[in-house]
Amino acid sequence: MKKLWKNCHIATMQDGQYSSIEHAAMVTSGQHIHWVGALKDLPADDYSEIIDLNGAWVTPGLIDCHTHSVFGGNRSIEFEKRLQGVSYAEIAASGGGIASTVRATRQASEEQLLASALKRIRSLLKDGVTTIEIKSGYGLDYANERKMLRVIRQIAETLPMTVRATCLAAHALPPEYQDRSDAYIEHICNEMLPKLHQEGLVDAVDAFCEYLAFSPAQVERLFKTAQSLNLPIKLHAEQLSSLGGSSLAARYQALSADHLEFMTEDDVKAMAVAGTVAVLLPGAFYFLRETKYPPLDSLHQHGVRIALSSDLNPGTSPALSLRLMMNMGSTLFRLTPEQTLAAVTIHAAHALGLQSTHGSLEQGKVADFIAWDIEHPSEIVYWLGGDLPKRIIQHGTEISI
Ligand code: NIG
Ligand code: FE
Repeated sequence: MKKLWKNCHIATMQDGQYSSIEHAAMVTSGQHIHWVGALKDLPADDYSEIIDLNGAWVTPGLIDCHTHSVFGGNRSIEFEKRLQGVSYAEIAASGGGIASTVRATRQASEEQLLASALKRIRSLLKDGVTTIEIKSGYGLDYANERKMLRVIRQIAETLPMTVRATCLAAHALPPEYQDRSDAYIEHICNEMLPKLHQEGLVDAVDAFCEYLAFSPAQVERLFKTAQSLNLPIKLHAEQLSSLGGSSLAARYQALSADHLEFMTEDDVKAMAVAGTVAVLLPGAFYFLRETKYPPLDSLHQHGVRIALSSDLNPGTSPALSLRLMMNMGSTLFRLTPEQTLAAVTIHAAHALGLQSTHGSLEQGKVADFIAWDIEHPSEIVYWLGGDLPKRIIQHGTEISI
């Protein structure tokens, strides 16, 4: 049963970067892409359905490769404090920040967490996101990390999206382990992670490598465990200070290192050699009023793939639109619209290890795509927020939004 999608232009992202075909067509077969090319080259075939896309520009479904979209409560009060001049680190040191979301998340039931997360994630879906990564990290003990990860699996069953679950138990020190951070890392490595993995709840492992969270030595201990479990690695690194976490991540062949404002040239080189993706998070940069920029020229010069993501979380980036993040990424980090589109499609797919199935429109890949009612692909990056008219196709089927 082949469907022909015609009367469109396609930004395919094939060959790992922005590329496009005007006056194009696509053929899908079940959940996959059977053929993509110029309409004039369309092979003759029997199609069960022919869909007119009315001159739309088609892109791969957007991929939000770094979110903390499952959490209890929110931190709008803390936001007000920060506007009065109290820093993120000061709020964390006085028991607020991540710790306050941990308290709210522990109190919430699975049903409550699912209901609140679905509202947020639906707005990303309506914005064109068909693949999302979601981290745990507000439970910080076995039962509550498990609760978060189970909710993430339920999101995958509820929404027409591909969902990847990342275990971020090493996000912050739970109160039970005050002044015993090595013991908490041992607990994650010996108990929590192996059990959660065995239950099929974990697709990747992440940690927060920062002076107010975990040291590179502690992160390395966790990476060794992840490696022994055959789990891919990601890392929050160089967000507030330079600890060399991104070089460490590269040494362990991490899929991505994320944030990176304080990374050095040596970190960039290490990531380039390892093929580790740099995930930049303009929402957190903006929301924390950061002034130190990631080393953009150096990242480009060394050929490191750059992805962009919402970092949707209650403390540093309550971002409900990936398109808005694309505009901010382009404006703040001087990415061209073409680089920005690659950053939320093929490069974001690499950041999740999904590059062989997602992130570009090529024969054999999953048929996740957006048909945008726009004149030119740069409009996807240009408009600030709002609802850009579109049709969303997931696994070869149009979904109603
Ligand atoms: O990606 N940096 C650490 N983790 C999140 C923030 C989490 C929070 O403040 O709740 C981030 O910015
Ligand atoms: Fe994050």
